[in-house]
Amino acid sequence: MTDASPPARTAVVIPAAGRGVRLGPGAPKALRALNGTPILIHAVRAMAASRAVSLVVVVAPPDGAGEVKHLLDAHALPERTDYLVVPGGETRQESVRLGLQALPENITAVLVHDAARPLVPVDTVDAVVEAVRDGAVAVVPAVPLADTVKQVAPRAHGEPEPVLATPDRAALRAVQTPQGFARATLARAHAEITANVTDDASMVEQLGEPVVVVPGHEEAFKVTRPLDLVLAEAVLARRRANDGF
Ligand code: C5P
Repeated sequence: MTDASPPARTAVVIPAAGRGVRLGPGAPKALRALNGTPILIHAVRAMAASRAVSLVVVVAPPDGAGEVKHLLDAHALPERTDYLVVPGGETRQESVRLGLQALPENITAVLVHDAARPLVPVDTVDAVVEAVRDGAVAVVPAVPLADTVKQVAPRAHGEPEPVLATPDRAALRAVQTPQGFARATLARAHAEITANVTDDASMVEQLGEPVVVVPGHEEAFKVTRPLDLVLAEAVLARRRANDGF
């Protein structure tokens, strides 16, 4: 008997509608330049580098969709990759939901990738796609923690914060993106879960569905603070040097 199920068609939703205030004043974070190219373009190229990805949906700042469309038109992407731009919302969750609504029907697997992670290697993208294709409904790339983590009772204005617990570091992971999902599961999570969350996988957890972790990569870090821009430039310089050999 032959396998009659159609091949998975994979799209990526890239929420890029945040202001990026922690990076300091200036343009929205996704539009800041890294080695002369906007962070968002690096992120789109990182996703399009995977042969599995056939569509990239960029969720732009509500007042910046035209500008983002122009940017994408002006930067080369692989021929096999389509892209479209939709305006985002007030929160990351809303932005992702608006991106999901724009997906064509034949898409069966969805990655969600922060524009703020411009340097994720293609092997990490492929590992997430493969785990979804192998049947996982939700997949997150993650790395072990370097720091010990304390749970505290938060206090404002730099006041000393009482420590409540120290979770076992060996059982903790810092999660990255792209996170990968069976489309139907992610759509249900966004329809049913309204609690404010910082990643998509935790919405799937709240549905009671299984989420698995695959190895992430140190270069998939999120550009959040000014020092992250310095690190990102250094990673790009190292890649250029390595490409020269
Ligand atoms: O603020 P944070 O770094 O957690 O944002 C993660 C991603 O979500 C960023 O790529 C940001 O552009 C995006 N975002 C969004 N819409 C919002 C807020 C954040 O698309 N309203």
